[in-house]
Amino acid sequence: MCGIVGYVGGRPCRDILFRGLRKLEYRGYDSAGISLIHKGRFDLLHSVGNLDRLESVLHQMENGSTVGIAHTRWATHGRPSNENAHPHTDCSGRFAIVLNGIVENYLALRAELEVEGHSFTSETDAEVVAHLLERSYDGSLREAVAAAFQRMEGHFTFVAVTIEEPETIVAVRKETPLVVGLGEGEYFVASAVSAFLAETRTVIFPDDAELVVVTRGGVEVTTMDGLAVEHAPEVVDWDEDAAEKGGYETFMLKEIHEQPVALADTLSQRMSRDGLVCLDGLGITDDEIRALQQVVIVACGTSYHAGLVGKYALERWARLPVEIDVASEFRYRDPVMGPNTLCIAISQSGETADTLAAMRAARTAGARILAITNIVGSQVTREAHGVLFTRAGLEIGVAATKTFLTQVLAVQLLSLYMGQVRETVALDKVRALTDELRHIPTLLNSYLDSGPAADIERVAAAYAKNRFFLYLGRNIGLPVALEGALKLKEISYIPTESYAAGEMKHGPIALLEDGSPVVVVATDSHVYDKLVSNVQEVKARGAHVIAVASEGNVGASVMADEVFYVPAVDEMLSPLLGVVPLQLFAYYAAKANGESVDQPRNLAKTVTVE
Ligand code: AGP
Repeated sequence: MCGIVGYVGGRPCRDILFRGLRKLEYRGYDSAGISLIHKGRFDLLHSVGNLDRLESVLHQMENGSTVGIAHTRWATHGRPSNENAHPHTDCSGRFAIVLNGIVENYLALRAELEVEGHSFTSETDAEVVAHLLERSYDGSLREAVAAAFQRMEGHFTFVAVTIEEPETIVAVRKETPLVVGLGEGEYFVASAVSAFLAETRTVIFPDDAELVVVTRGGVEVTTMDGLAVEHAPEVVDWDEDAAEKGGYETFMLKEIHEQPVALADTLSQRMSRDGLVCLDGLGITDDEIRALQQVVIVACGTSYHAGLVGKYALERWARLPVEIDVASEFRYRDPVMGPNTLCIAISQSGETADTLAAMRAARTAGARILAITNIVGSQVTREAHGVLFTRAGLEIGVAATKTFLTQVLAVQLLSLYMGQVRETVALDKVRALTDELRHIPTLLNSYLDSGPAADIERVAAAYAKNRFFLYLGRNIGLPVALEGALKLKEISYIPTESYAAGEMKHGPIALLEDGSPVVVVATDSHVYDKLVSNVQEVKARGAHVIAVASEGNVGASVMADEVFYVPAVDEMLSPLLGVVPLQLFAYYAAKANGESVDQPRNLAKTVTVE
């Protein structure tokens, strides 16, 4: 996700726009740029790196303009570079745009525009918008934006300016944020209120497909057909810190709720119209995939748990033997690998020292290396043969949430793709699964909107003073249990064990005493009945059972003392839903104990040391 901000008013806006970007820096900061309209032309500045770099060259821009747009980038398409930084302009240099989100059909639009003679200067999806405006402009920026919007697929917000109408900004959104700030004779458009909260607290929130036309005279919102739309101004009483968190009390809670969009972004452009998975940039050919004899997965912490889901998925759909190890162990083993081994390195930061070392060991042993990461330009992307990006957006909370969920989705997509290539999974099965995957972002959004947090918070508060938890899961539910336990450990500091449910009777059951809380991942699966037996075993020792179960499973509420229901999906996809109540449970337990959720003690967001 990126940060966008625009200004029209009576004041020089160079520094106003830069201050707005500073407030949006949490949304991404691998490159940035500003475009001002000054004396009938664009004054455009780009920088690579965080906003300190832009600030160091800001003086190169005159500060006389009172109309401009600005952008801080979180790369999803194309490395962080000056060419890929926004704002983007068209061939004629008369239009400039900034965009947040993903234009799913940008390749088709780009091909169409190139055939018509348009020349592109970046690798991004966003640049197509500037050329669409150039092509359709006929004296009205509003109409040109409407025409561009109607050609674009995906979910995005973009803001456009043109030197043909130097006092006008036009903005439009589709399933991503856009907010308008109403000042005294000056107006703002932005991805988030925080960008202009210091200037005005009076805002309106346009809806999807509404055209927002901003001039010094005010703001006009219309439908695509030109019908006026009234949005009553609201006064935001958030403090600046809350505004950066989008009104959530912590970044972690905000990021839990960003998971539907993160999943949708990670899915984007990775399913063909006929329902199959289509991936590129893997650094391994289809013939090499067919010749593979082994997959090795290396990762740390939460990423290791996503890798465990990948183990089950690759075995099930690609029919390949999969070995998985924590990177810190793998790097000091003497693993047997060769050219027919694919090593998958999973790291949201792309900078974890142990994972990088494990990758290098695998590469030395002759394996092909595929990195799954959330950060374009990170070290793993420079050392792997291929990369599969998650598109979770910047994750501020130290405890991984949305990056985990997008990693799980990435390994599921990869496993299905490899199964397609190796012809080890029926294409009808792939189509059925991709159809479910297509709906999961909406399903998860509905789940989160249904307000499960209140019940989960109640249960978490009731158990938060316990000094021991046992988490259990079976098969594809085991990585979910491991991840749920890690979340509780790392943000509430409560000692917690997590085990394969079938293994618990071989020792850990000795830990249980009357009232011990046991969390079980009991979503629908072919091993559900086995899990029920394990639950009876712990209940016989006086345990209190908290279960995650699939909607419709009424038996779960008989078996367990507390049940967190999630939407029922194919068991292999169930981690995408099942982990979310456990993220919330850990969150509210930590909150009940007054812990610092976003910056837990002893932890760092990126572990670049051994
Ligand atoms: C996740 O909640 C933890 N903060 C930690 O285990 C993390 O997953 C691990 O350090 C790996 O980080 P990476 O994905 O950036 O490699």
